[in-house]
Amino acid sequence: MSEKRVVFSGIQPTGNLHLGNYLGAVKNWVARQDEKINYFCVVDLHSLTLPQDPETLRTQTRSLAAVLMACGIDPDKSTLFIQSHVTAHAEACWLLNCITPLGWLQRMTQFKDKSARQESIGTGLLDYPVLQAADIILYDAHEVPVGEDQKQHVELTRDIAQRFNHIYEQEFFVIPEPVIPEVGARVMGLDDPMAKMSKSLAHTRGHAIRLLDEPKEILRSFKKAVTDSGNEIVFSDDPEKAGVNNLLGIYKAVTEKSEAEVLADFADARGYGDLKVGVAEAVIETLKPIQMRYNELMADPAELDRIMKQGADQARAVSTPKLDEMKHIMGLTLP
Ligand code: TYM
Repeated sequence: MSEKRVVFSGIQPTGNLHLGNYLGAVKNWVARQDEKINYFCVVDLHSLTLPQDPETLRTQTRSLAAVLMACGIDPDKSTLFIQSHVTAHAEACWLLNCITPLGWLQRMTQFKDKSARQESIGTGLLDYPVLQAADIILYDAHEVPVGEDQKQHVELTRDIAQRFNHIYEQEFFVIPEPVIPEVGARVMGLDDPMAKMSKSLAHTRGHAIRLLDEPKEILRSFKKAVTDSGNEIVFSDDPEKAGVNNLLGIYKAVTEKSEAEVLADFADARGYGDLKVGVAEAVIETLKPIQMRYNELMADPAELDRIMKQGADQARAVSTPKLDEMKHIMGLTLP
């Protein structure tokens, strides 16, 4: 048996990938590919929990797969696939629904936030974390690398997996751990450093840096970033300094420097203007090779399709037998 740990993570193809998604999740997926057995999933079924334009969703699903590869996910090292191509996810979600108490879902903070913003709430929005649990447990994943905001969903996955193991009196599911980065776990909006950078606001000017933004747009967004009325460039938990802290955190994450090195880089800065330009330049440098690779990948749609098919085949080979065993344990007959 392999000694390697299994990693599973997912990302929604809703809106463009932003710097928070990259620093909180994708960068860490890329960094540890060689040490682990990896499954990375474009979770299109999750995106359906809020209203979507069908054509846009289709385009963004393909585009996100290409962005992930451009960021460094190597389909020869990791299984990269689209969730709806592997039907085991939706089936396992149904099976887990039947053992998940409703109250566990009603107290999820993301459900409360998202449902407060919707006039009509689909059942899928409430059920969202059960589908996420299905994603993870089908692959016997030990680790789930995510940003801070997904911690509660991974903890719920643990509870669901434990409940299944308890009801059916066997250690059938691995109990996964959330893996949250020390740097970049919570990138804040540039326009409001007290609010998480989010895909739903990514279209708002100056809120998010999207991975495919042009250099001049990136510079413009950073120049407009909200800071404070002082001039002290320091890492700080003080809410007053949240804007500066966020800029320094972004710089630290993209350059992979220590806090002391970061502060040394800005020791001669003449105020926040220089800080903003310095951070923008570091981000532009980081994104340049990603954008070039993305354009190459999108220029060859047949190759992208081939890679997605290969990923789905690999994912099915692991998840189908697990699903069959799960059905058997629960008392279903297999055809
Ligand atoms: P999603 O698509 O909202 O976000 C993808 C990843 O990006 C992280 N993230 C952030 N990290 C730092 N700062 C931010 N401002 C920021 N915004 C987002 C998220 O924490 C996430 O890791 N429910 C998941 C998708 C999912 C999933 C899964 C994840 C479905 N099935 C199974 C892990 C395992 C989500 O909506 O991510």
